[in-house]
Amino acid sequence: GKAGTAALGVGSGTDTRFAEGGQAQTLTTRQGHPVTNNQNLRTVGSRGPTTLENYHFIEKISHFDRERIPERVVHARGAGAHGVFEAYGTVGDEPVSKYTRAKLFQQKGQQTPVFVRFSTVGHGGHSPETLRDPRGFAVKFYTEDGNWDLVGNNLKVFFIRDAIKFPDLIHSQRPDPVTNRQSGERIFDFICNTPEALHMVTLLFSPWGIPANYRQMQGSGVNTYKWVNDRGEAALVKYHWEPLQGIRNLTQPEAEAIQAKNFNHATQDLYEAIERGDYPQWELLVQIMPDGENPELDFDPLDDTKIWPREQFPWLPVGRMTLNRNPENYFAEVEQAAFGTGVLVDGLDFSDDKMLQGRTFAYSDTQRYRVGPNYLQLPINAPKRHVATNQRDGQMTYEVDTTPGQNPHVNYEPSSLNGLREAPRTYPDHTPWVEGRLVRESIDRTNNFGQAGEQYRNFEDWEREDLINNLVANLKDAAQVIQDRMIDLFTQCDADYGRRVREGLAQARQSAGAGKEEAVKQAEERSREAQPY
Ligand code: HEM
Repeated sequence: GKAGTAALGVGSGTDTRFAEGGQAQTLTTRQGHPVTNNQNLRTVGSRGPTTLENYHFIEKISHFDRERIPERVVHARGAGAHGVFEAYGTVGDEPVSKYTRAKLFQQKGQQTPVFVRFSTVGHGGHSPETLRDPRGFAVKFYTEDGNWDLVGNNLKVFFIRDAIKFPDLIHSQRPDPVTNRQSGERIFDFICNTPEALHMVTLLFSPWGIPANYRQMQGSGVNTYKWVNDRGEAALVKYHWEPLQGIRNLTQPEAEAIQAKNFNHATQDLYEAIERGDYPQWELLVQIMPDGENPELDFDPLDDTKIWPREQFPWLPVGRMTLNRNPENYFAEVEQAAFGTGVLVDGLDFSDDKMLQGRTFAYSDTQRYRVGPNYLQLPINAPKRHVATNQRDGQMTYEVDTTPGQNPHVNYEPSSLNGLREAPRTYPDHTPWVEGRLVRESIDRTNNFGQAGEQYRNFEDWEREDLINNLVANLKDAAQVIQDRMIDLFTQCDADYGRRVREGLAQARQSAGAGKEEAVKQAEERSREAQPY
């Protein structure tokens, strides 16, 4: 078969450790030559020197030298699983077809295979999974109409509302370019000049910033999309995943206790749950709003720093996802998986959300670099329906998209010589009217602090307590100007919020002098000098 996952031959849930030997298990080179000695280089005498015509060794070592591909520039650390999405056929108590013609949602009980990758954002591929960070929640639906990727996070809002700020945001959270360590001062230097981030920051520094694992966390599309029905009419939608396992978050001390012993706990938790048949499930819900500016709201529906109040825009269930199969090979499936916000099917559309439009360029751009120009030919990324393009060649071309019976000489369209033809249009397009001046301007309804303050007041006491402690811990070594700006911003969210951070910082300053000396003394006492051996 294809060089796909099936060919890897390691069935999930099957113990292959003690299989019988034989022809199938003979070690070969990639050229198919049986390997008779995999223990020793070919050398002149048993003590060397080595020879250069040693094809087996040179192939083996030079392939190894190329094993790594670039990490994802964000979301490098992740875990993945396969599963299935089952549609309800309805949205709340209405037929789903009223709002979208997307085929995967239409029939009750209709199943669509999925692949999900969960991730942390800021650090490298083997960084601890206990870090305070948003968690990625990316779902690839292999639908009959081709792939749909819903590339979301666990939290329902984001730091910024304009894609041009994304590289700056990420730089401020990555390690310092000189010291190579993450720094609270750099994070809050950016944040204190980015007031739209306050809602996200309020969530991120609370226990909601460290989900206990991947199974017990929510997901959200975060950005605003559209649904389009068979008359070409659109509505704005937001997507939410609710874990049927419940939601669990960690305080900073709880996370630190886990991290001291295990920095892979979330990957382990997901893999082991699926291996023992305890399949995690999420319900997919949507919020629907009429297409347009909705000027009666005190926020802009295209602003991803806002939630849509649930009382006003109820969460309507549309289906359920079950993850029931572990990857057979981490690299082939999880590492090479490529998700993008541009990957939509008929009946689903973009909104004018400026973040969403910026993201849509970034994903396939980085994937052509990270995985290669033919990344869509890899089994994990290829749709599970027939593909017929006139795209040709490029590095690592694995197959040519021809249809049996198609004229292989015709790799262009239109043609009268039996080439590929456009699909018939079944439904009217959604054709929104757009006009305006070309400008570089922020949206009007910024309302940066309202929902952040509400969130602060909605937390339980222990969550607020942890939030204040975490903010103080990350701000206490920052320059005074940054601390002052942050206190001002927290106060605009909620007076009590600002007061508690101010008091916390004052207290930290007071105890800093004495505390530092004491800490150094304790550390010295604990460490033992070693002798050279
Ligand atoms: C991954 C860009 C905002 C969720 C990535 C990657 C890039 C990127 C370049 C790496 C993709 C890869 O190597 O395959 C951006 C830009 C953004 C943005 C430019 C803002 C303008 C967001 C937001 C969310 C999000 C708001 C949440 C809704 C994710 C997830 C992944 C990811 C989940 C990992 C996907 C995977 O598991 O492979 N992003 N991103 N991003 N992003 Fe974004």
